[in-house]
Amino acid sequence: MSMMNKHAIFEKNSIVLTVGILIVVAIGGLVELAPNFYLKSTIEKVEGMRPYTPLEMAGRNIFIREGCYLCHSQMIRTLRDEVERYGHYSLAAESMYDHPFQWGSKRTGPDLARVGGKYSDEWHHDHLVNPRSVVPESIMPGYPWLAEYPLEITDVSADLATNGIVGVPYTEEMIENARADLLAQTDPDSDDIDGLEERYPGVQIRAFDGDPGRLTEMDAVIAYLQMLGTLVDFSTYDDQADVNLR
Ligand code: HEC
Repeated sequence: MSMMNKHAIFEKNSIVLTVGILIVVAIGGLVELAPNFYLKSTIEKVEGMRPYTPLEMAGRNIFIREGCYLCHSQMIRTLRDEVERYGHYSLAAESMYDHPFQWGSKRTGPDLARVGGKYSDEWHHDHLVNPRSVVPESIMPGYPWLAEYPLEITDVSADLATNGIVGVPYTEEMIENARADLLAQTDPDSDDIDGLEERYPGVQIRAFDGDPGRLTEMDAVIAYLQMLGTLVDFSTYDDQADVNLR
């Protein structure tokens, strides 16, 4: 009997066909899924990634509180038009310390994954208070209260510790110094600068809202926006997919 005739058994009996399909799909599923249970991580490590500083983390929390993610994604896809507009496509490692991640699926405004360093602090300040003051045709709402509200800093250590529970490598030392680190990041004359720079390489230190005397929510949000996408140095980074895009 030829193979073709045996095949007819499946084609003429729906139960046998269903069982056959289930077996084939189960084998395919196992081959695809099983290896993932034995891998420690599927995220490729990249140089330069570090956890958020306490000030950046506070800014991130406000970003989430205000719902900025409803209009802004933080994930540059591997498509030519995106890479040409926003820069190198996002790597998994770049959001590995984000809980929850801010990839988003809606872009009423531009992607923000690499907005760090694109504008001055002053531009961000004016833009967040009233977007129309710098981009006349903007439909983004203003967030003027960010410049007024003092930054709440009572739970910074707890915030880092909580992120530690879900796998962000915050050390005891980082958690203990969270409050001092947060204050030092907006004050270039602080005695705690050395410790801050040692714990968070590449940290940007200045009065982000332009007023060194006051610590506002604006300081935190701008510190967060200005570091987005700046940790990995893509001038030295190269991979096969990158080559394909050119
Ligand atoms: C209702 C949708 C909406 C919300 C909510 C929103 N934005 Fe925007 N955003 C826009 C639009 C549209 C633009 C483009 C026009 C402009 O620059 O104002 C924009 C632009 C920006 C830019 C400039 C990006 C670039 O590359 O030019 C930044 C930074 C930004 N928004 C930050 C924020 C932050 C922070 C929040 C939350 C506090 C926020 N946005 C909330 C719609 C929104």
